Amino acid sequence: VRTSWANAAETLGRAGLADLGFALYQRVRAAGGAKADDLPPPYLRVLTAGDTNPEAFRILGSRMAQTVLATAELQGLQLSSQDAVLDFGCGCGRVAAPLIAATDARVHGCDVNGRLVQWCRRRLDGDFRRTRPEPPLPYADQAFSLVYALSVFTHLHEANAQAWLAELARVTRKGGLAVLSLFDEDMPAAAEFRPSLLDRGFLVRREGAEGSNLLCGYFSRAGFAQRAEAAGWRTLEIVPSASSGLDQALAVLARD
Ligand SMILES: C[S@@+](CC[C@H](N)C(=O)[O-])C[C@H]1O[C@@H](n2cnc3c(N)ncnc32)[C@H](O)[C@@H]1O
Repeated sequence: VRTSWANAAETLGRAGLADLGFALYQRVRAAGGAKADDLPPPYLRVLTAGDTNPEAFRILGSRMAQTVLATAELQGLQLSSQDAVLDFGCGCGRVAAPLIAATDARVHGCDVNGRLVQWCRRRLDGDFRRTRPEPPLPYADQAFSLVYALSVFTHLHEANAQAWLAELARVTRKGGLAVLSLFDEDMPAAAEFRPSLLDRGFLVRREGAEGSNLLCGYFSRAGFAQRAEAAGWRTLEIVPSASSGLDQALAVLARD
C-alpha cells in the first residue's frame, strides 16, 4: 500500500501537481509511524518535523528550545514571569513544549495550520492561536520580549518573509530579541546555486504552496541581515548552518 501511495505522489509531482503529490507523500511518511503518549500523532509530527521519529522529535525539540533560551540569556535577556515569548509557526509544539517546561515566561504560539494549533491548545500550557498566512498577527505592539521562528522562514517566498520580519518587529518590545532559523549558503543542498544565492540574497528551490514544507526558500546570511534591518531589526549575529548544531543558520536580531 505504501509503495502505491509513493508512486501516486511521484506521478502527481511529474504532472505539475506538486502540492498534491507532497501532501500524499506526507501521508505516506506518517503511515505506520509509532504512536507515543507524550507526543503528537505521527501525521502532525510529519507536518512539523518532516518525519515520525519520536526520539528525533524529542531530542531536536529540546535542543532547539535550549538554544533559543541560551541565545536570549547570552544577549542579556533574562526571562521572568513578566515576559511573554512568541513561537511563530509553532507546529504541534515540538519546541514550545520543552520551552514551556524550561522558562517562567508566558509562552504564546501561532500557526496557520488549525490541526497543529488545536493539539497545542489541548496539551500545552500556553496561549495558542491559529493565524493567517499574511500579517497582521492578533497581538498588540511590543507584546513580546522574545520571538522565535524555527523552520518557518525556510518555507516562505521573499515578499512574505519581508512582511513577516516587519510584523515580528512590531510585536517585539524595545530591547527584545528574535531568533529565526534559515537555510543559508552553507547548506549542502545550496552548493549548486551558491554563487547566484550570494548574488541575489534570496532564492527559492522546490516551489510549493507558501508555508508548506515543500517550498524551500534560501537566504544568504548577508541577504537575510539586509532584509531584517530594512524591517526594523539590528542584526546581532547569524550563526552559519554548519556551526549552529541545528542544520539551519540562526539569526539573532535585536529591537532597539
Ligand atoms: C517545518 S514546520 C516547523 C514547526 C516548528 N517551528 C518546529 O520547529 O517544530 C513549519 C511551520 O510553520 C507554519 N507556518 C508556515 N507559514 C506560516 C505563517 N505565515 N504563519 C504562521 N505559521 C506558518 C506551518 O504551518 C508549520 O507548522
